[in-house]
Amino acid sequence: MAEALVEAEPVAVDAAAPVIDLQGAGKTYRTGSLEFEALKDVDLRIEEGEYVAVMGPSGSGKSTLMNLLGCLDTLTVGSYRLAGEDVNELDEVELAAIRNRRIGFVFQQFHLLPSLSAWRNVELPLLYGHVPAADRRARAEAALERVGLADKFANRPGEMSGGQQQRVAVARALVGEPALLLADEPTGNLDSASTKDVLALLDELHAQGRTIVLITHELEVAEHARRVVRVLDGRIQSDTVSSRHANSARSAGAAGAAGAAGGRAPAGAPGSMQAGAR
Ligand SMILES: Nc1ncnc2c1ncn2[C@@H]1O[C@H](COP(=O)(O)OP(=O)(O)O)[C@@H](O)[C@H]1O
Ligand SMILES: [Mg+2]
Repeated sequence: MAEALVEAEPVAVDAAAPVIDLQGAGKTYRTGSLEFEALKDVDLRIEEGEYVAVMGPSGSGKSTLMNLLGCLDTLTVGSYRLAGEDVNELDEVELAAIRNRRIGFVFQQFHLLPSLSAWRNVELPLLYGHVPAADRRARAEAALERVGLADKFANRPGEMSGGQQQRVAVARALVGEPALLLADEPTGNLDSASTKDVLALLDELHAQGRTIVLITHELEVAEHARRVVRVLDGRIQSDTVSSRHANSARSAGAAGAAGAAGGRAPAGAPGSMQAGAR
């Protein structure tokens, strides 16, 4: 099993499977004899093409959830299927392979390599994925074009604005055609103009059918997503269609995606509205 995953051989993906399917998920951190339950009984399904924001105050468990979704950490209890693939049983090497193949990451701090040009930064996931050099360059170019940076191909990060650097990071996240784009406070280090710029890009990618999970503590940012999941004390507190999208979702019947995604709040969650409820 390990070999099958490490090799570049594509794994069959169940097209009907949700991109994310967490069931009864929990995470307990252990430090010596101390235990801390950072996530409890989380059920979360995200279908292909959804744009979901995860919101919550500091310490609520957002990063813990993000690390689990991104296969950077493993569950203590429950199950996680990523694009139909059971992630529970994988070891470190297999998790690294799945991260590279299935997930594009965008971080608050960009994490670009300063000595490399834009396209060299963008090709990195392909390099790790053993894609031939000629393909890497063409695909990096296409990804930079897609984020509106065709003219910055040869520029290094230091020669670009923060917003442009984050767009390079988005191009890098997209270049491997991952099932999921996972963004952790992607506008946290940007001025308001660049924030608008990057959020507009994410809107565009969503319109093109990308599946996006965006972690943020800012409501204004979260409302770009159709679906907003609020986390509190390690639990999903609510799972709703964002007010900005509620009307259009209703008229277009598009909330069905979120509804069918099982976007539900735990029983008894205060003031929660079922996602896609009409
Ligand atoms: N490695 C760890 N060991 C022990 N406790 C942790 C660890 N990481 C996070 N926690 C605790 O889990 C809770 C949730 O943390 P985190 O997921 O980082 O929240 P958020 O990202 O929403 O601020 C916090 O109380 C934090 O102190
Ligand atoms: Mg955090």
